[in-house]
Amino acid sequence: MRIPLEKAQNLLQNGQVVAIPTETVYGLAASMKHPSAIAQIFALKERPSKNPLIVHLAHAKQILNYASSLPPSFDNLANHFWPGPLTMVLPSDTSLIPDQARAGLQTTAFRIPQHKLALALIDVVGPLVMPSANRSGRPSATHPEHVEADFGDDFPVLDGGICDHGLESTILSWVEERWKIVRLGALPPEIFNPILGYTPEIVVNFKTTPICPGQLYRHYAPQAKLNLKYDLSAQPGVILGFNERFYPQATQVYRLGSLERPEDVAESLYAILRQLDTDNVAEASVDINFPEQGLWKTITERLFKASKK
Ligand code: TXA
Ligand code: MG
Repeated sequence: MRIPLEKAQNLLQNGQVVAIPTETVYGLAASMKHPSAIAQIFALKERPSKNPLIVHLAHAKQILNYASSLPPSFDNLANHFWPGPLTMVLPSDTSLIPDQARAGLQTTAFRIPQHKLALALIDVVGPLVMPSANRSGRPSATHPEHVEADFGDDFPVLDGGICDHGLESTILSWVEERWKIVRLGALPPEIFNPILGYTPEIVVNFKTTPICPGQLYRHYAPQAKLNLKYDLSAQPGVILGFNERFYPQATQVYRLGSLERPEDVAESLYAILRQLDTDNVAEASVDINFPEQGLWKTITERLFKASKK
């Protein structure tokens, strides 16, 4: 159910959960002041209670109220990338952030989103805790219809159209005296180099401590079985491929976009994965013969996770 901004404000202030647009993906928002609404997020998404939520604020300076210390380069990163698709994990004052939002950790993930509707809501309602607005394991929602597909037509959604980035924020965490990427996202790793003087390492080893708990779970997956392949020239069946390539044996091709424009591929990726479900596709082959740098890194990681069963 599409609702206007005032109604979204009202529902959030009354402790209800509302789906709202951000520049990355739609979020399932709850006011940080309402523990029952935060609990509702976990129930709605069927999200494991060990997977913490991001706290969304309107201004970087508000973080000073919640963080117990700020790592080196925090200010530079904040100045360059906020508002925007960056999330930073910081040691936090645990008395001010509900335990369930942090999943019991001593740190909190913070983001200042760029979307004017999200910012308007945070200005009035205060901090919003907000995971992506999809059922756990499913592709994130980049359009109100995706939210309705997962949570029903009556679920309140503030309509902001299609999300610009189409991929979630990049998450940085200060680990062992370095910023590390604990979730790939809409900002490619190389973009941090001019600010930090190094490209943050992507940390995928979770054998000891779960640095980013969400990475442990299956994610972004449609019903269809996805087979990732480098050469689809003789591949029959349904194919997810690129505008400039020819797939002579395919029975049907879903175009992810142009190899020249990874931003466009990112923007439409989840919508195409969801379209496979709408079309009852049981199995598809995905063309993963594309570059390995920049945003393609995130796209590869999402497709890899989406293909896991
Ligand atoms: O773009 C985004 O980040 C979107 C929009 C709505 O802002 N949100 C989003 O939230 O993607 P979610 O819940 O789908 O993913 C948040 C990720 C999870 O993998 C979670 O484990 C991680 O952030 N996370 C949250 N708090 C953390 C913490 N204190 N330490 C490490 N990872 C944390
Ligand atoms: Mg998510």
